[in-house]
Amino acid sequence: MTSTQNSSFVYVATQHGAEASLKAMLCEPIGPYRLSYSTKGFVTLKSDLSTPVWSKALPDHPLIRSRGHALKRFEGEQSSELVSKVLSEYRDLDWDVLHVWQRDVAQPGWHGFEPGRSPLADMVAEQFRKELQLQDDPRSQSVNSIASLESKLLEVILIEPHRWWIAAKPVQNVADSWPGGVYAVPSPENMISRAYLKIAEAIPWSGLPIRPGDRIVEIGSAPGGACQRLLDLGAKVTGVDPAEMEESIMANPNFTHWRSKSLQVKRRMFSSFKYLVCDANVAPNYTLDTVESIVTYPTSKFRGLILTMKLSSWEIASEIQDHIERVRSWGFDRVEARQLAHNRREYCLVAEKLASM
Ligand SMILES: C[S@@+](CC[C@H](N)C(=O)[O-])C[C@H]1O[C@@H](n2cnc3c(N)ncnc32)[C@H](O)[C@@H]1O
Repeated sequence: MTSTQNSSFVYVATQHGAEASLKAMLCEPIGPYRLSYSTKGFVTLKSDLSTPVWSKALPDHPLIRSRGHALKRFEGEQSSELVSKVLSEYRDLDWDVLHVWQRDVAQPGWHGFEPGRSPLADMVAEQFRKELQLQDDPRSQSVNSIASLESKLLEVILIEPHRWWIAAKPVQNVADSWPGGVYAVPSPENMISRAYLKIAEAIPWSGLPIRPGDRIVEIGSAPGGACQRLLDLGAKVTGVDPAEMEESIMANPNFTHWRSKSLQVKRRMFSSFKYLVCDANVAPNYTLDTVESIVTYPTSKFRGLILTMKLSSWEIASEIQDHIERVRSWGFDRVEARQLAHNRREYCLVAEKLASM
């Protein structure tokens, strides 16, 4: 599979379970592709167009965690042999950065599994680093580093320990720059809930300029994982939730708890907040109704939103564009959606009002 053939292949990596929805949205008759090799969390798609290896024409969808031009599959029992084969074939390709990552082995949060670094990927990455060093190739320093925008990325994707795919892409956005599209979240020992990981990923992905001292309200804040991260960043946080917050959050002087459902809080009480986070376990339209009634209230002055949108079924992913349009209609300049690596069957919708507007 090379770009010199009359066809080309791309891969998309996604969460286990999302493959069928993605295929439906990217393949004919809706999209331009036809299905090729597919396994849990990793799908390759064929196109009749021959695409140059650094072409920016790659699939884009909120459920795609990582994507690239799929070049070739390698199989073998010994990783050291595979490393040599990959390098002898791709050393002369003009890539800048090498990423080595492993396909998800489960759903995020399943028995403690989290996407991102794995012992196997770390071991293989180290083998590539050493081999490149032996060859005096300065790109040894690039292995699994965060790639800069516009750089040329070669990816070694460990589908199984003995089956690797090689892919390539130009880095077009912040998620492309992370190995496997996963932001390496440093999680604290005393992490209160997985919502910590979600918001810790949402902030760098969204680029929302959250600063110490910013006033943030979270709807659906209990037990407090997201508040924990926001407080760590120095924000002044108010949590709205009828359920109990974790003790250490309650004890933090920068935290206030409004122990009720959001509907019971007077809308003018939200006038001092800069950002709204919502992580209530309700259907997307209920989340949007709730947030709309707060954000569009005349005294509200929100500059940014981070909403977790629950997907009761994967089919609801086809409504993401409608959700984006609805939030845009509230006066936000930039509205984007992505299923974060640490999201489960849900996605993250962010909105920002730009300062100059
Ligand atoms: C997934 S949990 C939130 C996790 C939390 N963000 C964290 O960081 O640990 C969902 C929460 O939404 C709350 N919830 C659901 N509907 C709500 C509403 N209308 N107003 C406020 N909280 C709500 C529930 O009580 C529940 O605690």
